[in-house]
Amino acid sequence: MESVIRDPTLAPEGHMKIGWAAAHSPVLAAVRERRLKDGTFEGLGVAVALPVEAKTAYLAVVLAEAGARVAVAAPLPSVVQDDVAAALAERGVSVFANSEGSPEDADRWMELALEAATSAGEAVLIDDRAGLTRIAHTTRRRLLPHFRGASEETTSGVARLRAMEAEGVLEFPVLAANDARCKHLFDNRYGTGQSTLTALMQSTNLMLGGKRVVVLGYGWCGRGIARYAAGLGARVTVCEVDPVRGLEAYADGFDVLPALEAASFGEVFVTATGNLHVLGEEHFGRMRDGAILANAGGVDVEIDVGWLRAVAEEVREVRRHVEEFVMPDGRRLRLVGGGMVVNLTAGDGHPVEIMDLTFAIQALCAHRLANHAASMDSRVHLLPPELDEEVARLKLEAVGMGVDSLTAEQRRFLAGWRE
Ligand code: NAI
Repeated sequence: MESVIRDPTLAPEGHMKIGWAAAHSPVLAAVRERRLKDGTFEGLGVAVALPVEAKTAYLAVVLAEAGARVAVAAPLPSVVQDDVAAALAERGVSVFANSEGSPEDADRWMELALEAATSAGEAVLIDDRAGLTRIAHTTRRRLLPHFRGASEETTSGVARLRAMEAEGVLEFPVLAANDARCKHLFDNRYGTGQSTLTALMQSTNLMLGGKRVVVLGYGWCGRGIARYAAGLGARVTVCEVDPVRGLEAYADGFDVLPALEAASFGEVFVTATGNLHVLGEEHFGRMRDGAILANAGGVDVEIDVGWLRAVAEEVREVRRHVEEFVMPDGRRLRLVGGGMVVNLTAGDGHPVEIMDLTFAIQALCAHRLANHAASMDSRVHLLPPELDEEVARLKLEAVGMGVDSLTAEQRRFLAGWRE
C-alpha cells in the first residue's frame, strides 16, 4: 500500500538518524540474531502505532528484515519526524505519518496501517495507548479475525485494555509490554526523566537549577522526572493522590503537597499521571505570572488546555513549541508542547539506549504473539519473566557487566523452610 508521508526528499537525514539509533541498539540487535531469524515473521503482518522517529524506525526495519510486512502509523501528527518517515518508506515499510496532519488524520493512518498489515494475511499489533486495538474493535471490526494479538507500549494503554477486558469486549490476546520490568523500570522512569527535562530545557532555554518544579504524579514517570529535576538543582515538590507514593516521594527527599497549594508557588509544572485535568481552572487561577506547564503523561488531557484556550485574552507562540496564554488578569502562563506528551512533541523522545530495551521487549512480545496467540485467552497477559530477564542479561553483557546465578544449594535454601 502506498505510504502517506510529507516529503520523500527528506529521506537522507532520516537514514542518518536511523543509522545512529541502530548503532546504539545492541540489545535489539542481539534479540534479532537469537530469536527473530526463525521464520516466525515470514509473511506475517505487523502494524505498529508509535511515534515515528528513529528508534521506532529501527524496530520496523528489524521486523521487516525478519520477513514481516510492516506498516507504521503515527498515533499523533505531533510525534512524527518527517525525515524518518521518508527514510522508512524508502526502505519498503508502509508508513502513514505526516507532521502536518490533524488528529483525525491519525485515526485514518492507523486504519490504513491495519489494512496494510492484513493485506496478505494475519498480523500482530504493536500498539500505543491502545489506538490500533480501539480501531480494530470499532471502525475496522471486519479485520478482527486477522489479528493474532497486540502488544501494548504504555501504562495508559494497558489500563484501557484492562478496561476492555473487564467489560468483556476484548477480542484478541494482549501482551502488556509496558508491564515488563525491562520496560517500565527504565523507559518510564529514566527515559521519561531525561527526555522530559531535555525537551523543557531545549524549548525554553531556561535554567532549572533553583527553580521550583512541581511534578504531578509519582509513578514510574514522575519518579524519573523528579529525580532528574533535582539532579539539575531544581527545588522539587510532588503532588499525588496515592498516600503511599506521596510518602515515598517524601522519603526520596521531596516536598509533598496538594496540587492547589503547589499551584501558587510553582515555576514549572510537569504532569505525569495519565489522568484527566490534573491541572485545571482552579490551579491556573493561583499560578504565578510566567509559570511554565508541560505534560509528560500519555494522555493529552492532563492539563486542561481547552479551558486555557477558551479564557485566554491572547494566545501567542513565544518560542518554537512554547505558547503563551495571556489571562484576563494579565498573568502569562506558558505551555510547552501543546499539552501533549512533551518529550515527543518538543523533543526526540527517550534516549536510544532506553528504547533499545523497550523495543527488544516489543520484538519479543510480537514474536511470542505470533507463535502462541492461538493458545492465549482474549485478555491482558504479562511477558514471561524469563524473556524479561533475557533482555536484562543482554544489556548487561553489552555494557561489559554481568550478574551471578544461584547455586543449587541456594535455590534449595530459598525454596525450603527447614533450614
Ligand atoms: P503510574 O501508574 O506508575 O503513575 C501514575 C501516578 O499518577 C500514580 O502514582 C497515581 O496515583 C498518580 N495520579 C493519578 N491521578 C493523579 C492526580 N489527579 N494528581 C496527582 N497524581 C495522580 O504510571 P506511569 O508509568 O508513571 O505513567 C504515567 C503516564 O505517563 C501514563 O499516561 C503513561 O502512559 C505515560 N508515559 C509517558 C511516557 C513518555 O514518554 N512521556 C513514557 C511512559 C509512560
